[in-house]
Amino acid sequence: MTPDDPTSTARADEFPPTTPGDAAPPSRDGVMLLAGDIRVRFGGVVAVDGVSLSVAAGQVYGLVGPNGSGKTTFLNALTGVVPAAGSLRVGGTAVPLGRARRSRAAGVLRMFQTPQTFVNLSCLENVLLACEDTRSSGLFAAWLARPLMWRRERERWRVAAAAMERVGLSGLDDLPAGALTYGQQRLLELARALAGRPRALLLDEPSAGLNDAETEQLAGLIRELRGDGLAIVVIDHKIDFIDSICDVVGVLELGRMVASGPPGEVWRDPKVVSAYLGTALEPQAAPDGGPGRPAADVAAGAEAARHA
Ligand SMILES: Nc1ncnc2c1ncn2[C@@H]1O[C@H](COP(=O)(O)OP(=O)(O)O)[C@@H](O)[C@H]1O
Ligand SMILES: [Mg+2]
Repeated sequence: MTPDDPTSTARADEFPPTTPGDAAPPSRDGVMLLAGDIRVRFGGVVAVDGVSLSVAAGQVYGLVGPNGSGKTTFLNALTGVVPAAGSLRVGGTAVPLGRARRSRAAGVLRMFQTPQTFVNLSCLENVLLACEDTRSSGLFAAWLARPLMWRRERERWRVAAAAMERVGLSGLDDLPAGALTYGQQRLLELARALAGRPRALLLDEPSAGLNDAETEQLAGLIRELRGDGLAIVVIDHKIDFIDSICDVVGVLELGRMVASGPPGEVWRDPKVVSAYLGTALEPQAAPDGGPGRPAADVAAGAEAARHA
């Protein structure tokens, strides 16, 4: 009953016997998230057209591209909230597409492009929503196994409080989420994703609307989470932010991956300049004879294109 699976039609017997996040260590080659040839079509619109990516445990993958290039839809496919074709593996285990609860149970959790908080619930209650206990439930089980259920309930609260602390919101547990600043609401969403014990964390424009200090705080948090061995996919338009946290960057244009690689290389790729500016620019020779246009120019061009 989290907001990331409103369309789920999954049955209870689809749940694996483990709690989210207890499943799937990284596969033997270290890959945590492996998406293959993902395709999403809305009527005549092919929103995602054969996108593949691989993210190792402890790696941050930046997904960038102009508005409408399919970034959010790609995350929707991985979280199972839109019908999609292709393949998804988490820690080497196949996860069916189009089943939100299966993606979630495999540890694929997300932060939305716009905050999806329940403003009338307290902050802690918002986070508790991610700490679902799907094991024995109902009146009969509650009566027979009351001590066990209390123990599980206490564990849920402990996990939620730890997630609040992790993002720097401890002390605000009882405040209604609607009383938080925009930046704090973003962190609350991140806490909710963390409380679901992610293996792969998908962040959709997490820095949007944050000031410089908040963006820097978020970058530090993402670096810490990388250190914990999560596979992280970050969509964002702030090039400096992406550069400061990502090991690999992939660029989408019209639903297709047009370039991927280390940030320094990707920003020099003429296809990337073209994707952002809509025209192919001649690569500029660097004064030292090195490859192409400095990243800052591309970033500035991309920013200019966005605000045009
Ligand atoms: N639910 C939907 N129904 C129809 N078209 C959609 C839907 N969601 C996204 N699209 C279309 O898919 C394309 C990619 O959108 P989106 O993934 O939101 O792009 P981005 O996140 O890169 O800005 C756009 O053309 C958008 O209009
Ligand atoms: Mg989007």
